[in-house]
Amino acid sequence: MKIMQVTIHVGRAETASAEVLVLTHCEGEALAKQDAALLDRALGGALSKLVQSKEFEGKANEVLLYHTQDAVPAKRLVLVGLGKKNEVTIETIRQAMVEGAILGSYQFTVYRSDAASGQDVAGMKILIPRKSQLRQVTEGVRRGVATAEATVFVRDLCNHPSNVLTPTRVANEAKTLAKAEGITIKILEQKEMERLGMGALLGVARGSQEPPKFIILEYNGAKKKDERPVVLVGKTITFDTGGISLKPAENMEHMKADMTGGAEVLASIRAAARLKLPLRLISILPVAENMPGGRAMKPGDIVTTLSGKTVEVQNTDAEGRLILADGLAYAMRYKPAALIDIATLTGACVVALGQFAIGMFGSDSTLKEQVRKSGQKAGERVWEMPLWEEYFEQLKSDVADMRNIGGRGGGMITAALFLSKFVGDCPWVHLDIASTDWSERERAYIPKGPTAIGTRLLVQYLIDRSL
Ligand code: BES
Ligand code: MN
Ligand code: ZN
Repeated sequence: MKIMQVTIHVGRAETASAEVLVLTHCEGEALAKQDAALLDRALGGALSKLVQSKEFEGKANEVLLYHTQDAVPAKRLVLVGLGKKNEVTIETIRQAMVEGAILGSYQFTVYRSDAASGQDVAGMKILIPRKSQLRQVTEGVRRGVATAEATVFVRDLCNHPSNVLTPTRVANEAKTLAKAEGITIKILEQKEMERLGMGALLGVARGSQEPPKFIILEYNGAKKKDERPVVLVGKTITFDTGGISLKPAENMEHMKADMTGGAEVLASIRAAARLKLPLRLISILPVAENMPGGRAMKPGDIVTTLSGKTVEVQNTDAEGRLILADGLAYAMRYKPAALIDIATLTGACVVALGQFAIGMFGSDSTLKEQVRKSGQKAGERVWEMPLWEEYFEQLKSDVADMRNIGGRGGGMITAALFLSKFVGDCPWVHLDIASTDWSERERAYIPKGPTAIGTRLLVQYLIDRSL
């Protein structure tokens, strides 16, 4: 999707000409006290009537469209509620206005010959009455746009079908992005992965005709160039059939979005570069397609991971943790100050948390608290799950260091515990987004289909961490 232009002007709403003018309003406040008072007068008190009659109260996330009938130069008004005044921050404004407008108008029409043209809102004007607010609003808008752009980018990648978005295409997207933003990129091909010993990722890729990729991007905006980096690792399975442990046919098409985590770490590094955040950031994408081809891994096969640990693959559908094992082991080479992985990892996550929470696991309480707070701010909440060693019993194998499934019970936990064996004592957080990555129905600014949930959390975390 093309992103609308957002511009900021100092001016008054009653004299501004625009197709659409966006106005914010706080709950329980008289219009006279707010910036819309003069506009209200020009409209013959129409706005205060809406507020008095409680047709529009200004509650958070409330939206009302109003046609001005030429009473003022602006043709239409969109009233956006901000909630109670003492709870409003620059962050709420940015989310309500910029992210709301961009994310709420999201459409994916690339493959539709009947796509209605000219439906996208081409531009958005934000009017502020006083010049003194310009700096703060500009910064809020800049962040809001960067975050929304990242989300839209992820939704687009998730919507593309797997016959288009192959591992090779992911690598090409990453190259294009890196070049445009001045981000360093390195892509490991199969030969190099064999040389390094990434047996887990290579094992997953064996059943597919599509060659795997291992993508490493580095953005360095830090003042101290050799500062220990934040490292993000995203599961990038361009399609998950389950492999020889084949998935049932129903809803299998959702598995084109099994690369959401990878798309999110890609989008996040782009956002960090665009916002020129003062930090060192590395994004890692282990990329493969999980297919049941003639050379595919079979249940019982044993692979040697990059870390040297061996894994008995009892179920080829538990492929995410395998590619992440090699991704995390590789990440450890950078001695991360913080290591975060994000993945559409387990169906058990969907069962445990439904649609509204991301599963969070981690070893470091400071990092967990930071991630929790950033998620809260971004409106993408995490819920912590236990990472207790007792559960490791379920991952014991008779023939290898561990097996890749944990049997009945605690499926989201055993998957996380599996990953924990590859991060040493590095401050680490694992986010399972299988519960939130796909929405069955449309809600406010969340579309039906791929949601890209996790993106705003990550970008917010990077902002919070570096500013
Ligand atoms: N990609 C799936 C997890 C998933 C399920 C994501 C539903 C989004 C929605 C993952 O690779 C998978 O297949 N996990 C298995 C693991 C099991 C075999 C231990 C699962 O959860 O069924
Ligand atoms: Mn799977
Ligand atoms: Zn998967």
